[in-house]
Amino acid sequence: MATSKQLQYVVDSAMAREVREGLSAMPKRLPAKLFYDEAGSALFEQITELPEYYLTRTERAIFEDYAARILEAAGPSLTLVELGAGTASKTRILIEELLQRQTRALFYPIDVSPSALNEAVRQMATQFPQLRVSPIVADYTGGVPALSRISGRKLVLYIGSSIGNFEPSQAVGILRRIRRSLRAGDALLLGTDLAKSSKILVPAYDDAQGVTAQFNKNMLVRLNRELDADFDLGAFRHVAVWNKRCSRMEMYLESTVKQSVFLPALDLDVPFEEGERLHTENSYKYTEEMVNTIVHESGFTLEKTWSDSKGWFGVHLARV
Ligand code: TRP
Repeated sequence: MATSKQLQYVVDSAMAREVREGLSAMPKRLPAKLFYDEAGSALFEQITELPEYYLTRTERAIFEDYAARILEAAGPSLTLVELGAGTASKTRILIEELLQRQTRALFYPIDVSPSALNEAVRQMATQFPQLRVSPIVADYTGGVPALSRISGRKLVLYIGSSIGNFEPSQAVGILRRIRRSLRAGDALLLGTDLAKSSKILVPAYDDAQGVTAQFNKNMLVRLNRELDADFDLGAFRHVAVWNKRCSRMEMYLESTVKQSVFLPALDLDVPFEEGERLHTENSYKYTEEMVNTIVHESGFTLEKTWSDSKGWFGVHLARV
């Protein structure tokens, strides 16, 4: 009889394959989606409240200051769609403003996580009785054909700088596939973190309290639990590097000693040199030129950008 652990290996075999590939590659890497188990999602929530992590509060401030102008520019009678909605907490600001402008509205949050969506639906339904919320469980990166069946003018929200965690070429692919399900007049509201001094960027990804380090290492905790690996958390350190040439923050776990890690579930031995880095995530920081490029290459026209007073974060309205 299979033990529950063996069953788990079967269930997560796609993940296991990616882990094997990444740990066997040169340089080593792990897939970023490993971050977001329950503990990781809670740690990320904590990150968004850190003094150094300016992204979430800066984007929220832009929505608070410009919600009316954003919706005015997007056009009348909007149906909202949100990609990677999660619990949709910043979206509330836009919805509140929307419901001042129209008596009823439809909201289609899209996320791979049914639990996050359920939470969003529950909260939105109580807070906004005039809002009809129809969640869609999907991985939006492959496009969402169901969007083409929604009538009326759509505003697709893709906020939180989530686009920054993809390669710009992948980002274009994602936006292009979304655009395919839209019609003339529909719009995209894209939130991107912007390139800035490494003095601001590096602490945002390597905070004084070590929450980000814990978030990054949670990947190893997860591999220890789910694949029976024996990563020694004390023998890896969190490293955040600003790569100016590529305009991205790079996150690594660096081995502090020469060591070998064993993953029984994959029957895989992974040797690490002292100082060897395991890549876990990139976070692209967009320049105006980069925004222009991905928006146009994916078939939209850039109509307007709103930013905070420091110019740290951008919210862009793009039209089909
Ligand atoms: N999407 C977040 C970002 O790019 C993810 C993130 C925040 C992150 N802090 C991190 C990823 C630290 C890896 C390591 O801002």
